[in-house]
Amino acid sequence: MSRALVSIGWALAWLAIPALTFADQARSLPLIPLPAQIERHDGRFEVTTDTTLSVPADHADALNAAHQLAELLGRTRGLLLTVRQEPAPSPRAIRIALDPNAPVTQPEGYALEVGHNGIRLSARSGAGLFYGAMTLWQLLTPDDHRGAVSVPELSMRDWPRFGWRGLMLDSARHFQSVDTVKQLLDAMAEHKLNVFHWHLTDDQGWRLQIKRYPELTAIGAWRTPPGAGTHGEPNRYGGFYTQAQVRDIVAYATARHITVVPELDMPGHAQAAVASYPQRIGVTGERPAVSVDWGVNPYLYATDANSLGFIKNVLDEVMALFPSTYIHVGGDEAIKDQWKASSAVQAQMKQLGINDENAMQSWFIDQIGRYLDKHGRRLIGWDEILEGGLPASASVMSWRGTQGAIDAARMGHDVVLAPGSALYFDHLQSDRADEPNGRYDVLPLKTVYAFDPIDRSLTADQAGHVLGTEAALWSEYLPSAWHIEHALFPRIDALAEVAWSAPAVRDWHSFLARMPAQLRRYRALDIPFADSAYAVNITLDGGANVALSSGKARVSLANQVDDGQVHYTTDGSIPTLASPRYVGPIELSLPATVRAQPFAADGTVLAAVRSRVLDDAALRTLPSSELVPCPDGDSGLRLPLLPDLGAPDTPVYNADIFRACKIYPAARLDGIAAIHVDAARLPRNFGLAHDQVKVISYPATTAHGELEVRLDRCDGPVLVRLPLPAGKAPGARMSLSGAMPAQSGGHDLCMRFTAPSDGPLYAIGTVQLITAAKKHATSDLPGKPTP
Ligand code: ACM
Repeated sequence: MSRALVSIGWALAWLAIPALTFADQARSLPLIPLPAQIERHDGRFEVTTDTTLSVPADHADALNAAHQLAELLGRTRGLLLTVRQEPAPSPRAIRIALDPNAPVTQPEGYALEVGHNGIRLSARSGAGLFYGAMTLWQLLTPDDHRGAVSVPELSMRDWPRFGWRGLMLDSARHFQSVDTVKQLLDAMAEHKLNVFHWHLTDDQGWRLQIKRYPELTAIGAWRTPPGAGTHGEPNRYGGFYTQAQVRDIVAYATARHITVVPELDMPGHAQAAVASYPQRIGVTGERPAVSVDWGVNPYLYATDANSLGFIKNVLDEVMALFPSTYIHVGGDEAIKDQWKASSAVQAQMKQLGINDENAMQSWFIDQIGRYLDKHGRRLIGWDEILEGGLPASASVMSWRGTQGAIDAARMGHDVVLAPGSALYFDHLQSDRADEPNGRYDVLPLKTVYAFDPIDRSLTADQAGHVLGTEAALWSEYLPSAWHIEHALFPRIDALAEVAWSAPAVRDWHSFLARMPAQLRRYRALDIPFADSAYAVNITLDGGANVALSSGKARVSLANQVDDGQVHYTTDGSIPTLASPRYVGPIELSLPATVRAQPFAADGTVLAAVRSRVLDDAALRTLPSSELVPCPDGDSGLRLPLLPDLGAPDTPVYNADIFRACKIYPAARLDGIAAIHVDAARLPRNFGLAHDQVKVISYPATTAHGELEVRLDRCDGPVLVRLPLPAGKAPGARMSLSGAMPAQSGGHDLCMRFTAPSDGPLYAIGTVQLITAAKKHATSDLPGKPTP
């Protein structure tokens, strides 16, 4: 068939509009993010190993898209297609070609036609072709079969809602290998994300080789971790990317149509830089250690010509490495104590006619912004750069909610939305006891999905300043590649749809219907995605006390997203699709063990099996995650024993870093003779800046402090004091046990550590209440009590 006839054929197919709604069509296709327009036709096209990936000769963009598609298909489906350069496609080929007349004019857009005689992908840009290839990969992997696949005939037109679809990686708090960074870039490409925001410097590490200033990496890239040399913590922690590695990463990203936006944080979060060149850039001239404290530390860059000259020299090397128009200069959380205390900074402010330190930060940022402008680059910074007045050329990344973006857009500045409440992926995905390290509040998949980067209050003109949106992988609590991937997947799917798909086509239930195919791809790619959204929560109606008093339990099974069909067993066996399907609360006599697993309608496993033992001991045991905050406390953090331990099975503890206090709610105390607590001593490595005054100490009665257990309230009577062992080394686990005076009924137990708050942090792992009968059978105690 001639090319003209093929085109007419495609045009006719496009006109044959079926009666299905967009939502129906979208839901039935295994695509994330959802494309802008889809028309499905009758008929299917079979892709087999005989199908060629046909590209025009000497056409780098098409060849690149074809190779990326071939590689992914081979890896995930074992379907090996040959890429062939030829002037015109052979029949039944997948043809990938740039076309200046492709029927999608939007930037990064593409058109995809699946017909009975082949597949045709066209676009006006290399990026468009690339995204079309990623869509095609998803169409060709609707299930987990291997080899040939039949795809529905369809016509698709697709383009992104936003031009900035980002992911931020913090390589300063924890350092990732080049391979891990490339895996993230792969994941971004597969989700049509196009800005890799790379947080390369912070108090805890400088990660970018700067040839003119070698101490930045000789000193600034390394820190001595708390607990160094114990439990597998290294004696020094760190690393950096050589300029050759950075060039390699930038090229890898470019091949995937991803721009790498480097971030050098200033004027705050500068401790590693100041540790490297205290005389040149420090405010006091004294050399601090590279920080091991998360949070806010006091070290700022000096504001004089020496310091600014240094930064500009660094930026020269940065601009040579990163072709990105935008350079991110941080600007966040710079407490100004050092500038306030410095006579030199104060004299400079006076001379400049600047009378407060926030305005001085604006001046400082403006100096950098002008330098970047002069070199054809643009400055972007966190929303704090708004505080002292925003330099005209600056763009704003809003993280403290969305107000910064709203204000900046109203002032005519470009903005990127990265609010912590919706897009900080270091936050936990559920409050389940099996979540790894992370921060509260919980940021579930659905909250990410519901985020809209354009606030309703913006006018159309103002909304035009919204460049897009990005999620952030802050890495204080993501010490390994496993933790990073667990935090990212599957929330990256929700992010992709927020950033790419039009609000009019987005739909949470359609998204859930398209997720099982994505989870199967993750399994094929060996990605350790979090199943938190799907994991079955096994809960007791009426709580443990009703079960303990009646010997019976009414058990409900549900997951966070209320999706999938749950199958369960009560005899300890592993559930399968043949096990009873959960339809409503299950009545059980105790003891019992419930195991449950959720499946998609097509049988896809949505989450690993979860189990709950329901016997007397288990009903009187609470994990760290089920203790609740004390009055005025917060849920805070979920912390590992030592901050740099990367093994996924490292024990984790819910801790409130302001008050070492937790409540065991509604404990049933009838017959209870003793309490047993698994606890841990953790490093208190948090820079709290002006919030330091909020840290509460409780008075101790013995040498090393105790865990005190009080009845009903935190000012209630003390039931027992469990002395803490001697020693201050963090990373210590301890078993604390003691007798409790007889009580009856249900009571809150307020549990707090009285160790001094300038020492290590103590946290509770699990709490067990032990009956008189058990107390005498000491072998039932899980560990030897420590004094
Ligand atoms: C930030 O989270 N400090 C930008």
